[in-house]
Amino acid sequence: MRSKFVITFVILLAAGSYSPMAEALQPEDNRQTRENGRRIYERACLWCHGAEGKGDGPSGWLIGRYSAPRPRDFTRESYKLRSTPSGELPTDQDLYQIVTRGIPGVMPPFSGLTDTERWEVLSYVKSLNPLFAAAVGDRSPHSITFPVPSYPDREAAINRGRVFYSRYGCQACHGDDGTGNGPESEAGNLRDGQGLRIVPRDLTDRRSLKNGSAPLDLYRSIMTGLDGTPMPSYVDQFAGREQDVWDLVLYLRSLSGDSAP
Ligand code: HEC
Ligand code: HEC
Repeated sequence: MRSKFVITFVILLAAGSYSPMAEALQPEDNRQTRENGRRIYERACLWCHGAEGKGDGPSGWLIGRYSAPRPRDFTRESYKLRSTPSGELPTDQDLYQIVTRGIPGVMPPFSGLTDTERWEVLSYVKSLNPLFAAAVGDRSPHSITFPVPSYPDREAAINRGRVFYSRYGCQACHGDDGTGNGPESEAGNLRDGQGLRIVPRDLTDRRSLKNGSAPLDLYRSIMTGLDGTPMPSYVDQFAGREQDVWDLVLYLRSLSGDSAP
């Protein structure tokens, strides 16, 4: 799948969502780091993600025992919020970003932990799923690359984005107006990996977006998909036409009243 990807330029740093500073502070992943991480986990994460990381902590019931999303089962479930292709593990930076930002409405941000503590707790979380131990060196997860956005004519780009939105069936789930009331959703057809009913995000409410609302974040959601949910990856549909994804991104941003790129 990755080979189909046309690489233009990498603008990860320019877009500002990935912090090289935090990466520099990442401690070595060893037994001591994981042990420190376990102690933090037991105080900060266990009540939702459970004593063994199976997503069955007591506070998970407060979020809604029978509705999505349940806290992630770290021992076996895939990850939604990734910069990596569908089906792959997240990068360390992706995980760091989730813990730092939190997830609107369901998981608090842990920006109050020091950088070192955030990395330590993530070392522990990763140790719960053996797939991470196998994904090192050449096999470590890699972010997709992003073409530099170019908007010679913004109005025309938004109009093209509107066409892509309906051509690729986004409205079937997200609705004509982007609020999440599409026919698939209204019919109750959408389920997550655990078989629980899930509703598409309201794309007009920027602050509710789990994967972020910056242009780069939206590009990432469209191209990598949210694994374990009905939200697919559109990497195949846009293969060789990655620049077109920015038109769709611009259209999504316009749904929440944004005029700046
Ligand atoms: C109040 C409950 C709560 C607490 C506390 C909590 N989480 Fe979560 N977390 C969730 C829920 C719910 C999800 C699933 C969200 C979803 O699927 O949309 C989640 C998902 C995640 C994910 C996966 C995101 C993805 O890409 O799929 C990671 C990583 C994560 N949590 C890490 C942590 C860590 C580390 C801590 C402790 C420092 C923590 N969480 C504390 C509720 C919580
Ligand atoms: C089959 C149903 C379905 C289709 C088709 C679909 N989506 Fe989604 N989408 C979802 C669901 C469900 C979620 C929410 C997943 C979650 O909350 O865990 C989602 C999430 C998203 C997100 C991330 C929101 C966030 O919280 O960060 C974006 C952006 C998005 N969709 C855009 C699109 C676009 C653009 C298209 C068409 C190219 C599309 N979707 C097609 C079901 C769908």
